[in-house]
Amino acid sequence: MASENMHYEMCILPRAIHDAEKRSQLRDKLKMIRLKALQKDPEELKFSDEVWEKRMTNPLAVHFIAVERCSETEYDKPAEDMSALLSGNWLGVLVLIGPMEDGTVSFHASRSSAESLSSNRPTLSNAIDREHAPIPVYELNGVFVVPEARGLGLGRKLVDAVTQFGISSAKSQGFRTIRMQVRVNTDNRPARMLYRSGGYVEGKVETSVSKENEKDGVKIPSKMRTCIVMERLEEFF
Ligand SMILES: CC(C)(COP(=O)(O)OP(=O)(O)OC[C@H]1O[C@@H](n2cnc3c(N)ncnc32)[C@H](O)[C@@H]1OP(=O)(O)O)[C@@H](O)C(=O)NCCC(=O)NCCS
Repeated sequence: MASENMHYEMCILPRAIHDAEKRSQLRDKLKMIRLKALQKDPEELKFSDEVWEKRMTNPLAVHFIAVERCSETEYDKPAEDMSALLSGNWLGVLVLIGPMEDGTVSFHASRSSAESLSSNRPTLSNAIDREHAPIPVYELNGVFVVPEARGLGLGRKLVDAVTQFGISSAKSQGFRTIRMQVRVNTDNRPARMLYRSGGYVEGKVETSVSKENEKDGVKIPSKMRTCIVMERLEEFF
């Protein structure tokens, strides 16, 4: 059980896991924490393992996982060490998706590598040289902290870690300006306050009705959603 004395480490879920046993263990852990978060979207319960693996391997997505740790002791581990992810208790998750072109942001979490790479849109690396290049967007998606670990600062740590990762990744790709963005349901006060505390500013309100859909043989009913777009514009000189 998490408490104020809780220790945790922030891990990034590797995309390429060659050991099939470890890959399926991590896939099941990802599925379990997402399902805890998605009580309002129970359809995802029926998705196949393949859909979950596509999420894990999406080349545009980076999954940050907060994993409970037994002690405060810091120790250096090689990046490929997955022991904490495999054996630890997952307390929270936040996914960063990007870079994408401004205006094209939608839910890309389950895109396969092939789908992502076969897009006909001009790539950002081509567009960056143009005078009016679109501003790349990094979308934060699906922040969730298990109920027993809430109110202890973990959500904020996830937002900070993901924001800093997006900024570093954008800088290393040579972008001069990026938009870090998140869509939050207007009635979700804790999430709005969380992102405000992380430096995100509230912008336009969007109401959308998704069409009834079928994915992986699972019927997704039509849904109405009113959300507020929150963002941080980052410029590097
Ligand atoms: C939103 C959520 C991730 C917050 O996680 P958390 O670990 O409890 O948040 P933190 O303890 O890091 O709080 C950071 C800030 O968020 C805000 N916040 C968090 N919970 C809040 C609440 N219940 N009411 C109001 N503000 C809240 C506060 O500003 C807080 O800063 P403060 O402690 O200095 O006041 C968590 O409540 C959650 O998982 N909710 C369900 C999933 C969800 O709604 N996700 C949003 C999808 S967009």
